Amino acid sequence: MMMCLLRPLLAICVLFFVSNQAAPRYNNGFFYQDIMNGDGNGEIYFNGVRLHVESHQPLVSAARGSNVTLTCTYHYEPEINGTRRTRVKWSWLPANGADRNAGETNVMVAMGNRHRSYGNFKGRVRLRRSAPGDMSLVINELNLNDTGRYRCEIIDGLEDESVTVELELRGVVYPYHSQKGRYQFNFLEAQHACEEQDSTLATFDQLFTAWKEGLDWCNAGWLADGTAQYPITTPREACGGTDLAPGLRSYGQRAHLLHRYDAFCFAAAPKGMVYFLQHPQKLNFTEAVSACVQSGGHMAKVGQLYASWRFLGLDRCDPGWLADGSVRYPIVQGRPNCGPSEPGVRSSGFPPKQNKYSVYCYQ
Ligand SMILES: *[C@@H]1O[C@H](CO)[C@@H](O)[C@H](O)[C@H]1NC(C)=O
Ligand SMILES: *[C@@H]1O[C@H](CO)[C@@H](O)[C@H](O)[C@H]1NC(C)=O
Ligand SMILES: *[C@@H]1O[C@H](CO)[C@@H](O)[C@H](O)[C@H]1NC(C)=O
Ligand SMILES: *[C@@H]1O[C@H](CO)[C@@H](O)[C@H](O)[C@H]1NC(C)=O
Repeated sequence: MMMCLLRPLLAICVLFFVSNQAAPRYNNGFFYQDIMNGDGNGEIYFNGVRLHVESHQPLVSAARGSNVTLTCTYHYEPEINGTRRTRVKWSWLPANGADRNAGETNVMVAMGNRHRSYGNFKGRVRLRRSAPGDMSLVINELNLNDTGRYRCEIIDGLEDESVTVELELRGVVYPYHSQKGRYQFNFLEAQHACEEQDSTLATFDQLFTAWKEGLDWCNAGWLADGTAQYPITTPREACGGTDLAPGLRSYGQRAHLLHRYDAFCFAAAPKGMVYFLQHPQKLNFTEAVSACVQSGGHMAKVGQLYASWRFLGLDRCDPGWLADGSVRYPIVQGRPNCGPSEPGVRSSGFPPKQNKYSVYCYQ
């Protein structure tokens, strides 16, 4: 049973362990009799043997498209002889708790040499098995939606121990609003808008990290968990007042179809690259679309521009078209005539499509 007391930015949880097993089992993890796992030579009795499960890296941060290893190893203390029929089960709790009722889903189960992977993980996961007791999970070709909490559970007869590994994608959070103006998206439209920009709705943790890194934004946006929030580093009157400490200001859970906000999108570190198209003239929107294609790419999306700015140091003081019809430019090193002194992606909004600008393409 878990009881939580929710406070802004802080959840205090108290765990109560409820024993629902008839087996002799104690809170300290010891067990005193195990007759379930014969080694073929009769029953093993072992006293005070303990199953240890651990992860050398409980927080893993990886780039999209890369292969990642979530470590998990087990051993017995004291060591025991013989092969035991140990099972391993990896399960996953998605980071974007959009569906709060969604429980853990299976990633892989294995026993001996037999194993089975599930759903979206099928064919993409394997156990590393680089040494006895190594049950680390290797995931190939990380997706945007693979982030979350992975649980490695080792099951040996009555004994069952687990460890969790948090997987996050390296990425950048940015606010996004509709071409029609501020506060136009319901939840589903916000989800869709981020996806169109090669991004996902940001999770609370992603926005929180962005806030710690200095994101300050006075317009509320949807997050993946169905709340609307905004990050404030410098409290001010116009943005929730000066009485509140810096932090994430939350409107809490909002009705998905009824309420309208902007969106906080999350763009993972890019696979490709955004480039400023060298072109003799400035272009209207339709000309810009074909100019990118002629150069072998496509018009860049907003998420791709943010990711290239953040991870590849793209810095260019020229406003250019992007695929959503907005005009922006990325500045790593603030300087005169390139917007504010802080780094950032500057936006000129969504100008009329016949206006002429440069263009950012993606390849
Ligand atoms: C990931 O692993 C697969 C299969 O093992 C391999 O073909 C691929 O090149 C790897 N990708 C990266 C980015 O290392
Ligand atoms: C394991 O086997 C070794 C020799 O094979 C023996 O010396 C040791 O006592 C055994 N340990 C246990 C816990 O049975
Ligand atoms: C995750 O993303 C992949 C590819 O981007 C997609 O095929 C899959 O359906 C997604 N899975 C979930 C659970 O959203
Ligand atoms: C852009 O210019 C071309 C002519 O070069 C014109 O045909 C087209 O309609 C213009 N597009 C827009 C959106 O104004």
